Amino acid sequence: MMQDWFRKAKLGIFIHYGIYAVGDVSESWSFHNGNISYEDYMKQCDGFTASKFDARAWADLFRRAGAQYVVMTSKHHDGVALFDTKYSDLNVLKKTPAKRDIVKEYTEAVREAGMKVGIYFSLIDWSDPRYRTVYPEGEKPEDHLKDVFATPAGGPEDPEKWQEFLEFNNNQLRELMTNYGTVDLLWFDGDWERSAAQWKAKEFKAYLESLNPEVIVNSRLQGYGDYETPEQGIPVIGPKGVWEFCTTINDSWGYRPSDNDYKTSRQIIRMFCDCLTLGGKMLLDVGPKEDGTLDERQVKVLEDLGQFIHDNEEAIYETGKGLSYNQFLGGSTLSEDKKTIYLFVYDKPAENLCVKGIKTPVKRVSVLHTGEELTFSYTGALPWSGIPGTLWIRADEMEMHPLTTVLKVELEGEITYNLGHGEVVTNND
Ligand code: GLC
Repeated sequence: MMQDWFRKAKLGIFIHYGIYAVGDVSESWSFHNGNISYEDYMKQCDGFTASKFDARAWADLFRRAGAQYVVMTSKHHDGVALFDTKYSDLNVLKKTPAKRDIVKEYTEAVREAGMKVGIYFSLIDWSDPRYRTVYPEGEKPEDHLKDVFATPAGGPEDPEKWQEFLEFNNNQLRELMTNYGTVDLLWFDGDWERSAAQWKAKEFKAYLESLNPEVIVNSRLQGYGDYETPEQGIPVIGPKGVWEFCTTINDSWGYRPSDNDYKTSRQIIRMFCDCLTLGGKMLLDVGPKEDGTLDERQVKVLEDLGQFIHDNEEAIYETGKGLSYNQFLGGSTLSEDKKTIYLFVYDKPAENLCVKGIKTPVKRVSVLHTGEELTFSYTGALPWSGIPGTLWIRADEMEMHPLTTVLKVELEGEITYNLGHGEVVTNND
């Protein structure tokens, strides 16, 4: 069920941690897609040590990055649990030298650092033979001759086994939701391989809420989730309702040493500002190495994001959706009392910045991180006809923030708009 803390949250950190960090392969998909054999993929278990894993250090970094919640993989599509489960031996305590309950340390540290606890759980389990016992609803066996990890691959269905699998998922989720204190958010993945009816999604959701009535569930539950999760491609128009954009810092969810395609801190900050402008939030992914440490390039992005947020907090946390891009060619947010607009300026202006369609007169414009006041003027205003004109802010000499500059535009009252077009002037006094 949607909760106020989540509706207001702006930044979460996503963690894809698992045995896939050992080699140089993608999480689960690598064996599913035949880039590595299942056996070689699973051999990564022997190299998963978590030898430098320090959940408190992670939590401290995420807190400094400005995150309000964290979501970590408890089990990806490969079925390897990062927690102590009595329902399967395929877990890092039994199958890897790590021998640690990663979820336990993670949940404790995140909670202790004052952030909300999220758990990613893959509905799909490509390691469990009970999973590949039915076909996606309405599809024929012939469509799945090669789908060896996901379906009976051309063979007959076994609905009883499927039912056992659903119970297995329920059991593991009960462990996750009762052995580690309150889980605030469940982040499911992989619902696409079965229908709502096959997942028994309605009963499943009720079951989860019976374990914690306040738990929030992401959208990947065939229509039974609480909010949308656009992935990798930043939305151009924000989805309806509460939403969270998830993205990687390079191109991989988990750690891959060969992936050097990193986004810059400024790109990530700009994506974050885009989410805020459109009324959403960002879930930024890190992929820790098998020993539990983070690539320094990922740490740098988190630290820079944290610096930007720290220096401009009032433009971020207690705010809502900003102006449309037709009104301001950049990002923006609005204070909760709707009397202040915050403008995100990514590049050094050559002269004036302009804002259109705001009827409420402006009282003061300043640079948020320095307090420097900027001059402003209007053109095209026709007060007698309600045309507010264009607000011009002289911004070429201001001192820029090293990452992204925020301008604070204080209004005389609550914001009101005129988003129409100019009218014919019938009186030129
Ligand atoms: C995709 C992938 C998965 C990843 C997830 C994160 O759905 O299946 O590997 O964990 O996106 O959003």
